[in-house]
Amino acid sequence: MAEVAQELPPIEQLFNPNSNDYMENPVPQCLALARRGPIVWYEPWQAWIVTRMPDILECWHKEPLSSDFYDWEFAPARPPEDEWSHFERAMIGHSLLADPDHHRLIRKVVSPAFSRNVVDAIQAKIEPEVQKLFDELGEPEQFDYKEAVANHIPFISITRMVGIPKKYWPEIKQVILTFTETWNPTISDERREIARQNCNKAIVIIQEVIAERRNAPVQDDFLSTLLKIEQEQENFVEGDIITMILALIGAGADTTLVAQQWAVYALLKNDRSQIDKALASADAFSNAFSEINRWGVSSKMGFARYAPRDMEFMGETLRKGVMVLMMPHLKDYDPEYFENPEIFDVQRTFDPDVMFGYGPRYCIGAALAKRQLFLTMTELFKRFPNLELAEEPERDLEDHNAIVFKRLLLRTHCA
Ligand code: HEM
Repeated sequence: MAEVAQELPPIEQLFNPNSNDYMENPVPQCLALARRGPIVWYEPWQAWIVTRMPDILECWHKEPLSSDFYDWEFAPARPPEDEWSHFERAMIGHSLLADPDHHRLIRKVVSPAFSRNVVDAIQAKIEPEVQKLFDELGEPEQFDYKEAVANHIPFISITRMVGIPKKYWPEIKQVILTFTETWNPTISDERREIARQNCNKAIVIIQEVIAERRNAPVQDDFLSTLLKIEQEQENFVEGDIITMILALIGAGADTTLVAQQWAVYALLKNDRSQIDKALASADAFSNAFSEINRWGVSSKMGFARYAPRDMEFMGETLRKGVMVLMMPHLKDYDPEYFENPEIFDVQRTFDPDVMFGYGPRYCIGAALAKRQLFLTMTELFKRFPNLELAEEPERDLEDHNAIVFKRLLLRTHCA
């Protein structure tokens, strides 16, 4: 068995998500990685990769590994508590991503803030803003969807969702754009520190907004719901609210931006009958969203976990702190998993549907993400029924996490 393994080329020769080949077509590389085995050591990232769905589902469900970035062997050292800035207090002290027991409690108590009523109320606030974006765009012969629409959506959603007043928008915008850089290991220390400072400033703003909202609560508003929970639950304090808002920024901004680009691209690149099927209803779109995600294979890395101690895992010995990446997207073009995987079919069945994760850390913003994308796509195709791609968009090599486009030029046929 060992002899066979030695004859295989190193996996980094077959799989390199930063290569041009991967950017143009990730499928052969994803299949090659999955074929290598259920758990593969990937030297360039000093990480193990879990490649197959049953193992990924088990890992999501039972959480044998840590989700706390500070448990990573290459993470910056955890400073002592008396040196914590607002940033460390939010990310270490009450982290939604850290201790599993606290995490489960937080998820349980915040669930009313993600209830149908609150999501409806947030949607009602986002809708006019999306329409305003399209009004400002007018009826050009062609436009860059990324610049004109997609780039604005995460900011619109998060500020309206949390209820951040206009006077704070410029500063908050910077944080929404750079928040994931606070823990990005691939950028310079200097750039990471700037992101951390931006984040510290944003936390001060969030504290001010919370103080204002305490004086003037609003019905069905997300922040007011969290403040009500804070009054009722002794284990849920203001620090948890701040962590929650930062988690929404961290988990909801980049994902939304990627989804916006791929939704437009997938719907325009494929048989046009798929557009009507996808936009037939919110439920139909929910399924279409998973197909857009599958067909696009935009992911480069997957979901990170860390060994909390030296341990045995899936037959391998993991050293404490080593990163383990779960890559559910490796299955997306596997014919044993999906019939005719190259066909884009928005009515395809997903069972289970893991686009938004699975188990205790299932995406808290899934309902919002689906609604906001449905809303934007409906508006886009209502205003521009004859829309088409004006060019094959060039991929942006700079993004370390996902395959995205430098621009997404669309022709409207309005004139
Ligand atoms: C296309 C859009 C999105 C996709 C594909 C997506 C997907 C996911 C996935 C797969 C996870 C689990 C990650 C893991 O296991 O490590 C997750 C977690 C999370 N997502 Fe999303 N997400 C999206 C949008 C959003 C939005 C808009 C928000 C907030 C408004 C959000 C908030 C969160 C949070 C807070 C978590 C962490 C949950 C926890 O640890 O308990 N996501 N998301």
